[in-house]
Amino acid sequence: MEKLVSSQVNNQSVPESYVFPPEKRPGDVAVPTCNTIPVIDLGGSDQDEVIQQILKASEEFGFFQLVNHGVSVHDMMRVAKEFFEMPVMDRIKLYSEDRSQIVRVFTSIDYCNEDVHCWRDNLRHPCHPVEKFMHLWPEKPSRYRHVAGTYSVEVRGLALRILELISKGLGLERDYFSNELSSMQVMSINHYPKCPDPTLTLGLPKHYDPNVITLLLQGEVSGLHVFQDGEWMAVEALPNAFVVNLGYQMEVISNGQLKSVEHCAVTKSTAARTTVVTFIYPDMDNIMEPAPTLVNVQSPPLY
Ligand code: OGA
Ligand code: NI
Repeated sequence: MEKLVSSQVNNQSVPESYVFPPEKRPGDVAVPTCNTIPVIDLGGSDQDEVIQQILKASEEFGFFQLVNHGVSVHDMMRVAKEFFEMPVMDRIKLYSEDRSQIVRVFTSIDYCNEDVHCWRDNLRHPCHPVEKFMHLWPEKPSRYRHVAGTYSVEVRGLALRILELISKGLGLERDYFSNELSSMQVMSINHYPKCPDPTLTLGLPKHYDPNVITLLLQGEVSGLHVFQDGEWMAVEALPNAFVVNLGYQMEVISNGQLKSVEHCAVTKSTAARTTVVTFIYPDMDNIMEPAPTLVNVQSPPLY
């Protein structure tokens, strides 16, 4: 299966179809590491302080990192890497370019219709409620379902906790998001194999996450770049931390008070990189609008 970019890792050069045009290439992948993205300690006892930190980070950066968050991330990261270390044949069964397949493995974003392919493979599946979807998840590695099941529940707890802190910070009811606004949860595991020339390729082109909130594990290999103050900057890899970023729907709900920020993923020549991403988003039937209590004569609805 030549499409899976992970089956091309022995290539000495980047295949033509993965080379981005000059204006879209990352070029210099050694951008400065952003040391202004806040690292927030969730283990402290002063909740008001944490709320203030999260709110400030969400207003100014749209991104923050969380440490002491209480979720065990090690096994999930391990099994995610194992999935992409298996022989390609073990992943092929799940390969599909059909976006309506809820559990699938694919390369790039939209392989058949795009001009240039991204240097990434992806495993994606829904995970809430776990019991409803677990039987559809990969059978190999054999502990995948167990580990991903436990992780999905824990990471959901953390996501709802952050959403609660954001609600308090915005002056909304505490459970503003604990309903259909957070009813969907998708696990998206990105695998960016070692790339012969990272200056020509992208793991993911620049984008805003469209959902409410995203919790990302980038492990020990950096590669996530965010656009801050007119410049691309790398998010420091803190092995057990979550990188949290607000999706566009959160910008809408907060009527622009909180920011969703553009980001992309670059590739590396020295290491493969695996990231475990959790997207929280509403039921597709909802129409998004600013929270009614955040809109008034002084702050007319911006969306
Ligand atoms: C994403 C994303 C970045 C990364 O999956 O939406 O931005 O570093 N991923 O994998
Ligand atoms: Ni993203």
